Amino acid sequence: MDFDHPPRDPVEQLRAWLDDARQLELPNPESMVVATIDPDGRPSARVVLLRGLDERGGVFFTNYESRKGRAIEVNPAVSMVIHWDLLHRQVVMEGSATRAGADESDAYFASRPRGSQVSAWASRQSEPVASRDVLEEAYTEAERRFEGGPVPRPPNWGGYRVALESIVFWQARAFRLHDRVRYTADGAGDWTIERLYP
Ligand SMILES: Cc1cc2nc3c(=O)[nH]c(=O)nc-3n(C[C@H](O)[C@H](O)[C@H](O)COP(=O)(O)O)c2cc1C
Repeated sequence: MDFDHPPRDPVEQLRAWLDDARQLELPNPESMVVATIDPDGRPSARVVLLRGLDERGGVFFTNYESRKGRAIEVNPAVSMVIHWDLLHRQVVMEGSATRAGADESDAYFASRPRGSQVSAWASRQSEPVASRDVLEEAYTEAERRFEGGPVPRPPNWGGYRVALESIVFWQARAFRLHDRVRYTADGAGDWTIERLYP
């Protein structure tokens, strides 16, 4: 990335950095920390996989009744951070999450391995579970329920699309004089571009 002449389109730039991470065969190049705001105003964060990215925003899939899901339903503001240590790069995004369309969630769910589909039915994500046995029994029960047929998407499982309001690209440089550029959506489909102190 040319930080002196940053490209107009940050989404294209982020795709290029994701491709670099994939080409290096980094483990989970699409993994990112997603921070949400709980209904009591406290932040919480966890890693998810970025499964889609275009001009409409970034998409990840999860359980809508998980802690993050419940948070987003009350306050859609999220921050997402990707860090590729080997590339000395970081991208920080902020935006507003809305549920992806049912068709999009269905299509992604259908592409997952059957075991992951079954476990989506077995997991009451973020709830306390009494033991490993209880979890495995729930899995076996779901397996039995859908035996011999396709596993449908659970109604409480699907995507969130985060419409990006800002994206900051960070590239490490010598003496901690790192390069940073912030793109801020201007609301009219274009971006304001500013270099930031590291
Ligand atoms: C590399 C990695 C990828 C993960 N990807 C996802 C994901 O795409 N969706 C998801 O719901 N959880 C994913 N998880 C699990 C979450 O980090 C988290 O434990 C789970 O979603 C429950 O979070 P919550 O209780 O804060 O809602 C992933 C964890 C790791 C370490």
